[in-house]
Amino acid sequence: MVKHQVLFSEERIAERVQQIGAQLNQDYAGKELDVICILKGSVIFAADLVRRITVPVRLHFLQISSYGDDVESSGTINLRFSSVTEDLVNRNVLVVEDILDTGITMDYLLKQLREENPASLRICVLLDKPSRRKIGVKADYVGFEIEDHFAIGYGLDYQELGRSLRYIAVLDPSEYEKGT
Ligand code: IMP
Ligand code: MG
Repeated sequence: MVKHQVLFSEERIAERVQQIGAQLNQDYAGKELDVICILKGSVIFAADLVRRITVPVRLHFLQISSYGDDVESSGTINLRFSSVTEDLVNRNVLVVEDILDTGITMDYLLKQLREENPASLRICVLLDKPSRRKIGVKADYVGFEIEDHFAIGYGLDYQELGRSLRYIAVLDPSEYEKGT
C-alpha cells in the first residue's frame, strides 16, 4: 500500500456520518429523499450515510470521469454511467460525493441535475478542500474540511487503490512526486 498517514479514524468518521444523518432527518422530516451516490468515490460514505437516514430514501448512482490517475483535475468531465431511470421532477435530490476540490465536477453535475427540475437539490460531501476551489460551489453538508492534501481511504483512491481503507488518510507526497 502507498505511504500514508491517518487523518480521520474509523470511529471519528462513524460519529460524523451519524451527525450528518441526524441533520438530514431533521431537514427532510416528512419528505422523501432521492440520494445520488457518485461512483466510485462516495460509495462507502453513501452506504453508511443512507443507513443513518430514517426518511424514505431512493438510491441512485452516477459515474462521471474527470481525474484519471492524476492528483489534479483534468477539467474535462463526462457522464459515464447513470442508474437514474426515473424522472427527478419534484423530487428532493441529495448528491453525495466524496470530495469537493476545484468544484469543476460538482458544477457539471449540478447543471445536469437542475435540468431535471427537482423540488430541491442539495450537496453532501465527505471532504471539502475549500482552498482549492476554482468554481464557486458550496456543499450543504460537509463531513470534514481539509487542507490541500491528497486524501485516500473510505472510498477515496489514488490510482484506484486505497478505497477500502476503513479510515481517511493523507497520501505521502513522496508517492506522487516519485515519477515527476
Ligand atoms: P474536482 O472536480 O476538482 O472538485 O474534483 C472532484 C473529484 O476529484 C472527486 O470526486 C475525486 O474523485 C477527485 N479528488 C479530488 N481530490 C481528491 C483527493 O484528495 N483524493 C482522492 N480523490 C480526489
Ligand atoms: Mg469521485
